[in-house]
Amino acid sequence: MQKAPPVLRTERLVISLPRPEDVDQLLAYGERNLKHHAPWSPPPPRLPLTTSMYRSLVEQIQTDYAAGTSVRLWLRLESTGKLVGAIGLNQIVLKAFRACYVGYHVDHAHEGRGYMTEGLSAVIRYAFDELQLHRIMANYMPHNERSSRLLERLGFEREGMARDYLFIKDRWEDHILASLTNRELADSAMLVKGAT
Ligand SMILES: CC(C)(COP(=O)(O)OP(=O)(O)OC[C@H]1O[C@@H](n2cnc3c(N)ncnc32)[C@H](O)[C@@H]1OP(=O)(O)O)[C@@H](O)C(=O)NCCC(=O)NCCS
Repeated sequence: MQKAPPVLRTERLVISLPRPEDVDQLLAYGERNLKHHAPWSPPPPRLPLTTSMYRSLVEQIQTDYAAGTSVRLWLRLESTGKLVGAIGLNQIVLKAFRACYVGYHVDHAHEGRGYMTEGLSAVIRYAFDELQLHRIMANYMPHNERSSRLLERLGFEREGMARDYLFIKDRWEDHILASLTNRELADSAMLVKGAT
């Protein structure tokens, strides 16, 4: 049976899947960050953003969690409940790979305050300890210095450069490939041979 969705708590944040009652806050977050995220993230499916798009997104996030294919979490301030960012563990693959891609963004007004470092550390712990993943992959455009510093701070290692890797804004962009490996993963053989 599927485990209850995670609720991760850090010093300043509560990190969880979004719920249907979050739709208005998600839309407001998306609208106020369109320009901030556009240089680094794939474009939204269409504009303008609407509540029905976010209603579908919340449903999809819940469905994907139940299927075990992704865990897309939102970061809110413990003090006020305000949404300040998101972290997705995407394309989760088990068996002999036990890996996923991580994607993240923070609200423009909350950048440079350590929220992403705090949130991503907790999500990495969850991915390694609870999901028992072996590898988390993160990719970023070479001039995304904030993303590069964030990953370096958390111990990710650069593995190479992929040409024309991801469609951002209006063209295919090169990305640096990075990853973090779970060196503590015990009983790997049992995990790999056992149930997915
Ligand atoms: C990439 C992104 C998530 C990084 O966010 P960020 O705010 O730089 O990361 P953090 O929240 O961890 O903040 C770290 C900074 O806060 C500072 N800081 C302030 N208070 C802090 C605290 N209490 N704890 C830790 N760091 C703190 C750190 O010194 C650091 O500053 P520096 O990078 O100038 O050295 C953000 O820039 C973003 O959303 N960009 C647009 C979308 C994007 O690029 N997504 C990723 C695509 S690959």
